[in-house]
Amino acid sequence: MRNPWMLRNPIFPKRNQKQVDFLMLDDVTEVMYGGAAGGGKSEALLMGALQYVEVPGYAAILFRKTYQDLSLPGALMDRAGEVLSGTSARWNGTNHTWTFPSGATLSFGYLDKENDRFRYQGSEFQYIGFDELTQFKERDYTYLFSRLRKKIDNQVPLRVRSGTNPGGAGHLWVKKRFDPQGRRPPIPGRMFVGAKLKDNPHIDAEDYKKTSLSQLDSQTRKQYEEGDWTDFGGNFYYPDLWPRYIDAGDAYRIRDGDRWRHIRKVDCCRIITLDWAMGKPKKGSTGEIEQELGGDCTAFTVADMTDDDDGLLFYLYCINERIPLGSNVPRLAELCRRYRPFIVAADDDNLTEAMFLDCRRFREIPTIKPMRIGSRNKLTRSQAAIVRGDRGKMFLPDLDTEYGIIHSAEHRNRTQSWVETLCDQLAAFTGADGEPDDVADTVAIMGRLADEFRPGENRDSDESVGEEGYRPYDTLNNFMH
Ligand SMILES: Nc1ncnc2c1ncn2[C@@H]1O[C@H](COP(=O)(O)OP(=O)(O)OP(=O)(O)O)[C@@H](O)[C@H]1O
Ligand SMILES: [Mg+2]
Repeated sequence: MRNPWMLRNPIFPKRNQKQVDFLMLDDVTEVMYGGAAGGGKSEALLMGALQYVEVPGYAAILFRKTYQDLSLPGALMDRAGEVLSGTSARWNGTNHTWTFPSGATLSFGYLDKENDRFRYQGSEFQYIGFDELTQFKERDYTYLFSRLRKKIDNQVPLRVRSGTNPGGAGHLWVKKRFDPQGRRPPIPGRMFVGAKLKDNPHIDAEDYKKTSLSQLDSQTRKQYEEGDWTDFGGNFYYPDLWPRYIDAGDAYRIRDGDRWRHIRKVDCCRIITLDWAMGKPKKGSTGEIEQELGGDCTAFTVADMTDDDDGLLFYLYCINERIPLGSNVPRLAELCRRYRPFIVAADDDNLTEAMFLDCRRFREIPTIKPMRIGSRNKLTRSQAAIVRGDRGKMFLPDLDTEYGIIHSAEHRNRTQSWVETLCDQLAAFTGADGEPDDVADTVAIMGRLADEFRPGENRDSDESVGEEGYRPYDTLNNFMH
């Protein structure tokens, strides 16, 4: 046992198993204890802070976002008080610090305002704890790492610990950093421990659910009750809940109730939708017309759609990059060479005569299908895709599968990365102007295409999708990606 003092500590006789796991991770620098409400996270953070207080020179600090969060009855400072009053530790109310007979200290801090983090400049801690991590800014969190150090002869481990429920302002950065859904290979020195309400035997879970959690809306309830890390940012797309497909070589394997269903790739129509940065000219500060570089990225999204009434969409790839204006078309050509799309589509306000002409230079780019947008706003334009997503008609690749064809590690990483981009952007999509929504735009086009699509249509040459540039539907090409 690595933490002899703590595990013998009479103050906390009743640790639950998850808390013990969390406390035993001395050789991992960064651990986040995250999940359901009432899992015992705050308590565990406090226990962690007290783990080495018998070691001279040990310094721990526990952060909440505001001073009020720290000082409310039942909050961290109050709980520490309950545990430590009556012991030989001494409280200093001015600097919110307990000092132990060994000289070790436990302080409480907050990072409310922009520059609060600099108040800890020059301090040195071996344990830094953050409770309700999603309330903090990542910048403040990472800054505090510079305060994590010790004297050469000090044996205690250096630890940054945090606890949080999913949701809240910092949900996305915390999720990205700790990967609570286990989608990436582990990062050395960083760990996520998942807390569930049932892990904490000291709380009447049924009663808590019935009387307290039942008051919450269903999303927050899922986050608090189950520790669900699904993104609920914009409340329109829930890509984490979309069904997954397994690439079985010549077919997509999907779940159909408790059975598997196979969708043959030859029965699908390959589509690329795009939203390119137009480099809109705008007035610069000097009054001259400048090319706008900020914000706007180009997005290309590739999917296979079933040639039937369902119009199921299997996402195969997406790119979201800042691409120089002149390189947009060559990049599209490169993508068309690789994926051989049957349809390439874009919103009509996103297509210029020059681009059309430019595309003609590349045989592999089919005539681009302009999607009429009228004056509809982004949210209206996205309805078709939002509904399709909601009804389980859009599929993302299953990254965890052991079945299907074996892909190289490189392919896996590439897939991981675009799936993450797509999920993050869709989840955060609100339809408001100015947010990064290029990928969301391409997904919106997919949805409208699928709505317009009539089965069998793409097997004939069809005026409405343009004949020129379209090659006959080539089944072999569907194996290539
Ligand atoms: N090991 C323990 N021994 C005794 N009581 C405990 C223990 N761990 C947690 N508790 C009690 O269970 C309750 C919930 O614990 P805690 O507040 O730490 O959970 P939490 O995960 O931080 O909850 P929230 O998500 O609401 O912040 C508290 O009343 C706490 O005192
Ligand atoms: Mg808590």
